[in-house]
Amino acid sequence: MNKLRLGVNIDHVATIRNARGGLYPDPIRAALIASEAGADGITAHLREDRRHIIDEDIGRLIGAIQLPVNMEMAATEEMVAIALKHRPHAACIVPERREEVTTEGGLNAARQHNHLKPLIARLADAGIRVSLFIEPDPRQVEAALDLGAPVVEFHTGRYAHSEGEAQAAELRRIADAAALAAKNGIEPHAGHGLTFDNVTPIAAIPQIAELNIGHFLIGEAIFEGLGPVVARMRAMMDEAR
Ligand code: PXP
Repeated sequence: MNKLRLGVNIDHVATIRNARGGLYPDPIRAALIASEAGADGITAHLREDRRHIIDEDIGRLIGAIQLPVNMEMAATEEMVAIALKHRPHAACIVPERREEVTTEGGLNAARQHNHLKPLIARLADAGIRVSLFIEPDPRQVEAALDLGAPVVEFHTGRYAHSEGEAQAAELRRIADAAALAAKNGIEPHAGHGLTFDNVTPIAAIPQIAELNIGHFLIGEAIFEGLGPVVARMRAMMDEAR
């Protein structure tokens, strides 16, 4: 089976840095450690309120690491301009609400078709691989296809935060949506809320090509160190294939 890529999201290193407004801990240092420990890419979400990653981090990250950078961003003019300036390898379009604690749901790609279509085309024309962060719902996959997005990332939050039969049902929804995306030539990714305890069934879905994982890895790194935690996640993902 094809290798499953691990994108390490470094946002919450910046959350800790920003708690004191200084330079430490530096999310770029975390990206370097993650890349040595087996990450295949680095993900950073430049939120509109700059609560963790800030503008300078994007340029520094792209300059400092060899791995592909995936910039998560809202579908706004401001974010498109920043992406076009820095040209990350990939841009993942996420819905954003200022008051939310984290990205709580997927993008409504169907409803936002007219807004997203030209925005995706501009990013794609600049050589940026666009992904849409959507719910594992066939209507959203079809909307992504209509929009010409080469990649979708399925929101695994509902899976991660449920148990028993509800979790099994959500896993089936993700597997079905991944199969539908792949059948239509869209590369499926997944992420949100993934941990050592819940990653294996998601990693075993054969069509999924990449997982983006952040909060758990950075939290666990407090106890075990970032290198070992990334290496363990990498090993678990490989074992699941
Ligand atoms: N993928 C996307 C599109 C996200 O918005 C997030 C959260 O920023 C993640 C993956 C990672 O989620 P978590 O931090 O819960 O691992």
